[in-house]
Amino acid sequence: MTDHELLTIALEARDRAYAPYSGFKVGAALLDLDGHVYEGCNVENASYGLTICAERAAVVKAISAGSRRFDKILIVDGEEIITPCGACRQVLYEFAPHLKVICADSSGKMIEYDLENLLPHSFSLQQRED
Ligand code: THU
Repeated sequence: MTDHELLTIALEARDRAYAPYSGFKVGAALLDLDGHVYEGCNVENASYGLTICAERAAVVKAISAGSRRFDKILIVDGEEIITPCGACRQVLYEFAPHLKVICADSSGKMIEYDLENLLPHSFSLQQRED
């Protein structure tokens, strides 16, 4: 699975985003260590605080499907490159402290980060069941 294939999947997920309030559509593609991809899009709510980001949608989908070991996640918003919000960084860290985070725009420009660098001195109870 190449990063450009992940970008294609994330862009398709982005098309399905439900973002009537912000108009800001985000897509994510989470690759596990077995090569499976779980995509996610942001899902907003009239009660704004209940909004779910694309990255967390992808993680929840993966965990629900029985996958817990992840290699990388690619996120795309469209014209600009964005990095995951703090809440998503923490949720990703729960399962994959060493995750690669690829932030892309729709033209194919990508910047890769290590989650450990995006969330230094992170909170963990080290109770993961691997
Ligand atoms: N959003 C994401 O889906 N992921 C992020 O990492 C940042 C923000 C969404 C949430 C909301 O629907 C919209 O972008 C504007 O904040």
